[in-house]
Amino acid sequence: MLIYLNFILVSGAKSLAGRFYRRIRKFLSMSHIALAALIFSLLWSDAVLSAIPGGEKAQLAPAGQGQGEGAQAPAVNEDHRALLEQVEFPSAQECGGCHIDIYREWSVSRHAYAQTSPTFLAYQATLVKLTNGTLGDFCQRCHSQTGMSSSEAILTSNSKRDTVSKEGVTCIVCHRVAGEYGKISGRLPLESGDIYKPVYGPRPGDELERVLAAQKGRPPKVHKEARHLEQVSESGFCARCHDVRLVNGFRLEDAFSEYKQTPAAKRGESCQDCHMGPVPGIASEYPHAPAAVVRGTPSKPARRTNHMFVGPDSPLVHPGIFPIDPEAQEFATPEQWITFDYKAGWGTEEFEQGITDSAADQSQFTGIWQDQDERFMAREIIDRQLELRAEAHARGTALLRNGYGLGEIEVVESGDALSFKVQVKNLTDGHSVPTGLIAERNVFLQVSVTDQKDQVIFRSGDLDPNGDVRDSHSLYVHNGDMPLDEQLFNLRSPFMVHAAYGGEREQVLPANYSFDPLIFMRPSPTPALLMGGIRDIRLQKRSIEANGYRWANYRVAPEQLSGHGPYKVNVKLVAGQLPPHLIHAISGAGFEYGLSARDIGDRMVELYRVLWERDLVIN
Ligand code: HEC
Ligand code: HEC
Ligand code: HEC
Ligand code: HEC
Ligand code: HEC
Repeated sequence: MLIYLNFILVSGAKSLAGRFYRRIRKFLSMSHIALAALIFSLLWSDAVLSAIPGGEKAQLAPAGQGQGEGAQAPAVNEDHRALLEQVEFPSAQECGGCHIDIYREWSVSRHAYAQTSPTFLAYQATLVKLTNGTLGDFCQRCHSQTGMSSSEAILTSNSKRDTVSKEGVTCIVCHRVAGEYGKISGRLPLESGDIYKPVYGPRPGDELERVLAAQKGRPPKVHKEARHLEQVSESGFCARCHDVRLVNGFRLEDAFSEYKQTPAAKRGESCQDCHMGPVPGIASEYPHAPAAVVRGTPSKPARRTNHMFVGPDSPLVHPGIFPIDPEAQEFATPEQWITFDYKAGWGTEEFEQGITDSAADQSQFTGIWQDQDERFMAREIIDRQLELRAEAHARGTALLRNGYGLGEIEVVESGDALSFKVQVKNLTDGHSVPTGLIAERNVFLQVSVTDQKDQVIFRSGDLDPNGDVRDSHSLYVHNGDMPLDEQLFNLRSPFMVHAAYGGEREQVLPANYSFDPLIFMRPSPTPALLMGGIRDIRLQKRSIEANGYRWANYRVAPEQLSGHGPYKVNVKLVAGQLPPHLIHAISGAGFEYGLSARDIGDRMVELYRVLWERDLVIN
């Protein structure tokens, strides 16, 4: 019958007005499909099924299912379910189409960097290996939420990962979780689905409704709803990831727990107030600005929060790769970007004018960079990226200066020996300084005493050739090439593990690998996924509590004094990122983006920031 109807229509087509015909044709062909489906489902009846050898329904049900509800479901439905359940998350770049400024801020943040980070990846790979895989997805839970949710392979190169999982803590990680979770170490139930799914934000979505209602033409691709989630504006929201708590009670990171005890918390100041406001590290009035621009029309100005979330850390990777920039991604692959020598000045007028057509000059360029126009265009992108990085770095310095204070140098003794002390203060009452990953953060004093002949007679906090302070983890100290810095003042909190006979020792990695704590079995008898590491480990906390201070005491022994006084004392408070000795310890896993341990170590040294400096002349 269907074929017949179709025939009449097709043959009569010429006599009907084209447009009208196509409408009817479309309608009918749709009803064909519906009809066909109906007939098909009728045919697929018990009668037909039983006619097929072995075609009983029960046999089509997935293996292992009994007579319950599931028993009715044919295997093909299982396949469909799997398809429907496929996880899907929109990229920050989709959100950035309207939330332009927020995207720009986020793109340079540590949140955007969380999965790109070569140090994170190498550290994770090292621990996964040392725990024989039992660490599972522990690290991804906070560093790549969408990677965790879609069960992406843990030890995969970033080049093989999904675009969204590479975005680390991307927009929807914070804005598509409906529940009010607190400290759950990052295992968040993200709501999967396309861009139309609702988002959860700091206010009811009436402005979104108004903006969408005003749109003419095709509706924009956007969340259809913006729901209010109170916790988004509370510190408990950050606690989802900023308290790294292991089930064995090991408190790896404590930012939220520290904060809960502080005067700032009592005053009602939140993490957001200090970390998303205009002044880094100090609660201040938020600006009012549009949160989105939809087809050229900005939304009504309202409280705008800064999504840079600046912290002390700066990126290590090539500026073509980070900040996460759609144009940079379009322009070249990460593999291509790392061969673009921006430091040598490629693409700048100055550099390019000095380039001749000679083979010697041209041989430095490979692949797409052989074309000078490409180099000029790449340079524009790089300059913009570097500018954004510089902006974040400057805000990071401002944050640190609002967190650490250095008092005047006070002389204690200036007779046979020389003694002095200096106060290091926590200027914030929001949490301890440093907070967070305190096992890996060097914040130390660099001290020198110089005599009248410009001879340095005393040093502390100076660096070994790797860029480490001279503590027991310095390879140079370890190998006996440099003396231990006995008077070092460093706020880094080491990992302590139990040694074979009761004592404790410092260890670089929180995993079972060292030889002397023999009581541990290797591999661990407990899964690291549950325990988050070895059982018998703790942090020796050295951070300075909220509003607290610490004295650093120095003594220059009589035999060190040259006799050519007066002596000049110089003290610098230096803040760093990961210590180079850690880079060494995780380097066996290799680093992404063509970086060597040496590249990273050098960059760590470059990134030591002198926050404050004091001088004093002692007669
Ligand atoms: C087509 C434009 C458009 C796109 C794309 C878009 N948004 Fe929005 N969004 C808006 C507008 C308009 C508002 C309302 C602005 C306001 O509340 O001031 C809004 C509001 C929000 C809010 C605040 C809700 C509130 O009021 O508390 C959040 C959070 C948000 N969007 C997140 C996202 C995320 C995440 C994405 C990507 C998955 C995204 N948006 C994509 C236009 C867009
Ligand atoms: C680490 C979590 C986090 C990430 C990642 C994040 N946001 Fe937010 N966002 C917040 C918090 C917290 C607030 C609300 C702060 C407040 O009001 O106290 C917020 C507020 C907003 C708002 C409301 C307007 C404003 O300025 O406060 C919009 C819109 C928004 N976010 C969009 C985005 C988009 C788009 C991205 C990705 C480019 C993103 N967010 C990434 C945590 C996050
Ligand atoms: C989904 C997990 C997650 C949530 C939620 C989250 N963060 Fe983060 N945050 C991270 C991770 C992971 C990093 C470090 C990434 C890296 O450097 O590799 C980070 C880094 C930071 C840094 C930078 C630290 C540095 O070393 O420079 C700041 C500041 C920060 N977060 C503040 C916040 C605040 C405030 C909130 C709440 C509004 C919040 N975060 C919510 C996971 C999260
Ligand atoms: C009263 C203001 C204030 C509050 C509240 C506050 N912070 Fe901070 N935060 C700072 C300052 C100042 C610094 C810089 C000093 C430092 O590096 O510790 C900082 C640094 C950080 C860092 C960088 C790590 C470090 O210490 O070097 C992280 C991560 C961080 N804060 C997270 C949080 C989280 C999460 C909360 C809420 C639980 C929070 N902060 C609440 C002021 C505040
Ligand atoms: C519960 C959430 C959470 C989990 C789980 C987690 N991290 Fe982090 N990680 C963070 C936060 C938050 C920061 C930023 C802290 C700070 O700056 O003080 C961070 C920072 C880091 C950094 C320094 C920044 C960088 O990119 O170099 C490294 C390295 C790192 N994490 C490695 C790991 C490894 C390895 C694991 C698994 C053993 C892990 N993390 C598991 C939340 C988490």
